[in-house]
Amino acid sequence: MKGNFYLTTTTADDLGIGLFKYSLSPPEGFIIVNSAVARLLDYASKAELEGISWQKLFLNPEDKDRFIEVVNKEERVKFFEALRKSRGNKNKWVAITASRINDGKTEYLEGIIEDISSHKEMAEQLSLERDFLQGLLDNIPDAIYFKDRYSRIIKVNKFYLKGTGFGLEEIIGKTDFDFFPYLQAKAMFEDDSYVLKTGNPIIGKIERTLLANGAWNQVMTTKIPMYGRNGDIIGTMGITRDMTAYANTERERLGMLINALTVLGKALEMRDPYTFSHTRQVADIASTIAGELGWDENRILGIRLAGELHDLGKISIPLDILNKPGKLSELEYQLVQEHVKKCYDLIKDIEFPFSLAEVIYQHHERLDGSGYPRCLKEDEIMLEARILAISDVLESMTCYRPYREALGITKAHQELNEGCGSKYDPQIVGIVSRLIKENDGEVFWGRG
Ligand SMILES: [Fe+2]
Ligand SMILES: [Fe+2]
Repeated sequence: MKGNFYLTTTTADDLGIGLFKYSLSPPEGFIIVNSAVARLLDYASKAELEGISWQKLFLNPEDKDRFIEVVNKEERVKFFEALRKSRGNKNKWVAITASRINDGKTEYLEGIIEDISSHKEMAEQLSLERDFLQGLLDNIPDAIYFKDRYSRIIKVNKFYLKGTGFGLEEIIGKTDFDFFPYLQAKAMFEDDSYVLKTGNPIIGKIERTLLANGAWNQVMTTKIPMYGRNGDIIGTMGITRDMTAYANTERERLGMLINALTVLGKALEMRDPYTFSHTRQVADIASTIAGELGWDENRILGIRLAGELHDLGKISIPLDILNKPGKLSELEYQLVQEHVKKCYDLIKDIEFPFSLAEVIYQHHERLDGSGYPRCLKEDEIMLEARILAISDVLESMTCYRPYREALGITKAHQELNEGCGSKYDPQIVGIVSRLIKENDGEVFWGRG
C-alpha cells in the first residue's frame, strides 16, 4: 500500500501535483506529503511541514471557514480555490480536492493540491478582454450585430437594441425578416449571403432603414465575414451607423448651393428665355430616366442639377449667334461648342458630392467618339452624361427655336433609334422608347 502510494507521489511530483494525507485525530499533522506540496505551500522541504496545522493552508480566514464548512457538511471538497502568497509576495492560487476519511480509529483528510495561478491569470485576462470588448460594443454609438450562417442574430450591442426598440431575448435567434419590411429584409439577407458566399466584405453601403418609431433613417452599413477556428466562414458581423443627421446637413448644404446656382439660371433666363426653358426640361427628362433606373434620391438630385446647369456656358455666347436663324458658320459653330468648356470652368471648383462639372463637360460626347469637345468614347462617357445627351436631343428636337420649327417627338425618337448603340446608350434609348410608348407617342415630361 505504502509502496503504491510512493510511486503515485513521485509521478504527481513530476506533474506538479501535491498529494497529502493529514491526520485530523491526535496527534494532528501531515502523515504523507510529496515534495510538490511543500513547493506549492512555499516550504523549503517536506520536513518543514511537520507539526503544521492544515488550517495554515489558507491565507484568508474566509477561505478557511468556507473550506471547513464544506468538509464538515459534504465530507469532501472538489477543486476548492484558495488564494495564497508566494515567497515573492505574489498572488498564488491553489485548488484543493480532498475527502474526509474515517477508518474507525483515526480521521484523515486526504487529497491533492494544485497550482492554478496560470489558469486563474488566463481566466482573469479573458474576462478582462471580454469585459473590455463588451464595454466597447455597448459604448459605440453604432448598431453592431453578429449573425450565424443562416442570418440569425446571435449577438447585438446596446445601440442595436435601442434602435430596434426590442429586448435582447426578443432579438436572439431572429432574422431581419422578423423586424424589417420584406423588401428591405430581403436586400439585407442578400448582402449577408454575398459575404458568406464570397468572403468579401461590404463596406460603407448607404441604405434606408425603418425605425421602431416608424420613421425612416439613412444608414451606412459595413458587413464582414466571421471565421471559425478551422478557417471556415461561420457568420457575419455588421456595423450600421446612423447617417440621417449627416445626410440632412448635406442636403441642406446642397440646397443652399442649388439656390445660389439658380440665381445664375435666372440670369440666363433674363438673357435668353429659350435656353432657360430648355435646361429646365432637360433636367426634367434626365431625372425621369434616372428614376426609371432606380437611382437613389441624391443621385437623381445630382442629374437634375446637371440638367439645370448644363448649358450655363451659353451665357458667354453672343445672343445673335445663339439665336441666329439659318446655318452657323464654322467659326460660329466652334464658338457655340465652347459653351461646354465654359460651363465646366465656371463650376469645376465648387465642391459637390458628385462629379457635376465632369458630367456637364461630357454632355455633347457620343459613344462612337463623334461628339465634342474631347471626342470621348464608350465607357469614357459617364452614365449621367449619356442620359443628359439623350435628354438634350429629345428636348432640342421637340421644341421651337428661333432658327427652326419644332421637329416633334417622332423625329426625335427616330434620331435616337438611328443612333442607338452608335451614338446613344441603348439602355437609355430603350427606357425613352418605353416612356414615349406609355405616353401614347407623346412627350413624357412636363412642359414648363
Ligand atoms: Fe449643350
Ligand atoms: Fe442643351
